[in-house]
Amino acid sequence: MKPTDQFQRPLRDLRISVTDRCNFRCRYCMPAEVFGPNYAFLPRSEILSFEEIERLARALVPLGVSKLRLTGGEPLLRRGLDDLIGMLATIDGIDDIALTTNGTLLAHHAEALALAGLNRVTVSLDALDPAVFAAMNGVGAKIERVLAGIRAAQTFGLPVKVNAVVQRGVNEQEILPLARWAREHQITLRFIEFMDVGESNAWQMEQVVSAAEILSTLETEFPLRPLPPTHPGETAKRWQHADSSADSSVEIGIIASVTQPFCRACSRLRLSAEGKLFTCLFAATGHDIRPLLRRQESDLALQQDIAALWSARNDRYSEERGQSDRPKAEMSYLGG
Ligand code: GTP
Ligand code: 5AD
Ligand code: SF4
Ligand code: SF4
Repeated sequence: MKPTDQFQRPLRDLRISVTDRCNFRCRYCMPAEVFGPNYAFLPRSEILSFEEIERLARALVPLGVSKLRLTGGEPLLRRGLDDLIGMLATIDGIDDIALTTNGTLLAHHAEALALAGLNRVTVSLDALDPAVFAAMNGVGAKIERVLAGIRAAQTFGLPVKVNAVVQRGVNEQEILPLARWAREHQITLRFIEFMDVGESNAWQMEQVVSAAEILSTLETEFPLRPLPPTHPGETAKRWQHADSSADSSVEIGIIASVTQPFCRACSRLRLSAEGKLFTCLFAATGHDIRPLLRRQESDLALQQDIAALWSARNDRYSEERGQSDRPKAEMSYLGG
C-alpha cells in the first residue's frame, strides 16, 4: 500500500499547517503591505478540526508517513495546539513530531507541548542584532521573547534547531554572530537560502546569498567538517565544528534549495489548514481532502485517494526553477 511517485520517491513526511495566520510580518514571507488588515485569511469554519487532522495523519501511516511537522503561519496561534500534539502522539508508526515556530509564544507553551509528546522544535531566528531582528519580523517584535522561548524549550527537554533565512542587503552580516551564539548554546543552526516561494515577497536572485557564500563566511572563523546525510531527502547539508575545543555534537547546516535543490529524494506532502494537500511547496493548487474527511469516508477511501495523488506526483520545482511562471501558494499558507 506504500505508493511511490513518478520519480520513485516514497511518501514519508507530512507537514501540517494548522493556521494561515501569523503574529509576524517577515518581509520575505508576509510583507505587511500585502498581508494587511484587509487580507482575507481562512475563516474558522474552513479550517480542519484537530479530529480531522488526526484522522488524516493516522490514515497516512500505512502509506509510509512516519514523520509529522506542525507549521503555520504561526502554529502556536492555534488554540490548544498541545491537545493536537497529544492526539498525534498516540498514532502508532509516527516516530517524530516536530514544530516550526517563530518562538514568540514558545516560553508560555513549551512545557505543555513537551508533556503532550512533541519531540523537537525548530525556531526561526534571522538575526541577533535587535534592530535587524525587529525590521525583519515586520512588527518590531523583541528578540528577548524568542530567546526566552528557546530557553524554555531546552528546559523542558525539547531539542531545538534554529532556522535563519539569509537575504542579501538585510542580514548577511548576522551569519557569524548567529553561528557563535548557536555554538555557545549548543543549538543546531541552519541557514536557509532565500527562496522564491509565493507571489508576495518580491524575490530576486540577487538577494539570495548562496550556500557556497554562507559556507565561506563561516569558514573564515570556524573550521568545519562535513557530515553525511542522516536520511534521503534531507533539506539541510550539515557540518560539525572541527576544532579541538568544539563540542562535536554541535551541528551547523545550510538549506540550499535555490543553488543545490534537493527534489530528487523529496518525500514531503503538505496539508494546508483548510485541508488541501500539496505535493510540492511551489505548487499552484492543492488537492482538497476535506470533502472526504467531512463525509466520514472510510480510511480506505482516504488512502486510495491520496495514494493516487502521490503516484501521479511529478513535482521538482526547485530543479526546474525559472521554467514555469504559474502562480505559487504563499509560504504562510503552506507552512514552508
Ligand atoms: P528537519 O526535519 O529538522 O530537517 O526540518 P526541515 O528542514 O524539513 O523543516 P523546516 O520547517 O525547519 O524548514 C526549513 C526550511 O526548508 C524552510 O525554509 C522550508 O521552507 C524549507 N523546506 C522544507 N521542506 C522543503 C521542501 O520540500 N522543498 C523546499 N524547496 N524547501 C523546503
Ligand atoms: N525563503 C526561505 N525560507 C523561508 N521561510 C519563510 N519564507 C521563506 C523564504 N522565502 C522560512 C521561515 C521558517 C521556515 C518554515 O521557512 O523562516 O524558518
Ligand atoms: Fe515570519 Fe514564519 Fe510568520 Fe512567515 S510564518 S511571517 S516566516 S514568522
Ligand atoms: Fe520537494 Fe517541491 Fe521542494 Fe522540490 S521544490 S524539494 S519537490 S517540495
